[in-house]
Amino acid sequence: MKIDTLIREHLKGVTPYSSARDEYSNSDGVFLDANENPFGQYNRYPDPYQSKLKQRLAEIKDCKVDQLFIGNGSDEVIDLSLRIFCEPGQDRIIAFTPSYGMYKVSASINNVNIISIPLLEDFQIDLPACRAQFEKAKLLFLCSPNNPTGNIMKADDIEAILAEFKGIVVIDEAYIEFSDENSWANRTDEFNNLIVMQTLSKAWGLASARVGMAFASEEIITLFNRIKPPYNVSRLNQECALNQLADLAEFHKNKDLIIKERKRMVDALLNLSLVKKVYPSQSNFLLAEVVNANGIYSKLVDQSIIVRNRHSAIKNCLRFTIGSEEENNQLLNALSKLENEKSTFS
Ligand SMILES: Cc1ncc(COP(=O)(O)O)c(C=O)c1O
Repeated sequence: MKIDTLIREHLKGVTPYSSARDEYSNSDGVFLDANENPFGQYNRYPDPYQSKLKQRLAEIKDCKVDQLFIGNGSDEVIDLSLRIFCEPGQDRIIAFTPSYGMYKVSASINNVNIISIPLLEDFQIDLPACRAQFEKAKLLFLCSPNNPTGNIMKADDIEAILAEFKGIVVIDEAYIEFSDENSWANRTDEFNNLIVMQTLSKAWGLASARVGMAFASEEIITLFNRIKPPYNVSRLNQECALNQLADLAEFHKNKDLIIKERKRMVDALLNLSLVKKVYPSQSNFLLAEVVNANGIYSKLVDQSIIVRNRHSAIKNCLRFTIGSEEENNQLLNALSKLENEKSTFS
């Protein structure tokens, strides 16, 4: 696919900001070029291209450094994708519902119209409905494992979209480490219209550090680098990420614990009569249908247990993040107590 025909026309003439550290990248020298303060520990601007962090991530994710972009969270990747490819007030994107809310919010902020396609009853993609909109859209977001439903989208459907849609396909894999399916990140050579997003916010436990990734062809990564704010990932965040990425054993231990707890929570929740259904999940949360989502949600808040009420998107559904064993037990205890007040909810 010819990617340059999809880029917003005016961006082709934009000269990116050239930072002081772009012009001289050695670490030795007398630095009087960037109007920094000579005193203090954090006085220097960070590496604008996060070379060390990218090197480490490329090793872990088995990808080429030039096919990797790091954003201020993957939310920045969503915004940049819209800003590169979608002409405000003119182009449209396709997104599925229910799914992660930021595609819609970011599109609205960028004045880009959204074509919302409802997922099927089993939360899979309605391919015929999707195909019917292909011509009208420039970019498509899909989330797998999907938030808030927790399921992986069928590989055949994704493959069909990648082959048939003549625009950019962004696959959001924020929760991929919790799943037993393969990532699409190593398929970007095959599909040059593919952007895969991942994050350190979930399985790596670094939500506060704001480190998100995009895997794509070198051509698309160059576009991200051209329009990103020069110092989009702070030095503190780069260092924090590097520290976390040094300890793979800890990562696997915590991830495996969360998956184990997820299994335990499915069974425990299904034992409660307030819970009607727990959807299968390949992520670090469970979507559960309960007898009265609004009522149970506020009763839990009264006990300072905060879950996500998805009733407005999926009738009577709450989304429970898998916490530590102790946190999960607190949730289960609170729900058991509410069982006794069940009449309040029927
Ligand atoms: C599907 C999905 N994508 C992206 C994000 C945001 O990730 P980040 O913290 O990297 O911005 C979230 C956060 O909840 C999410 O659920």
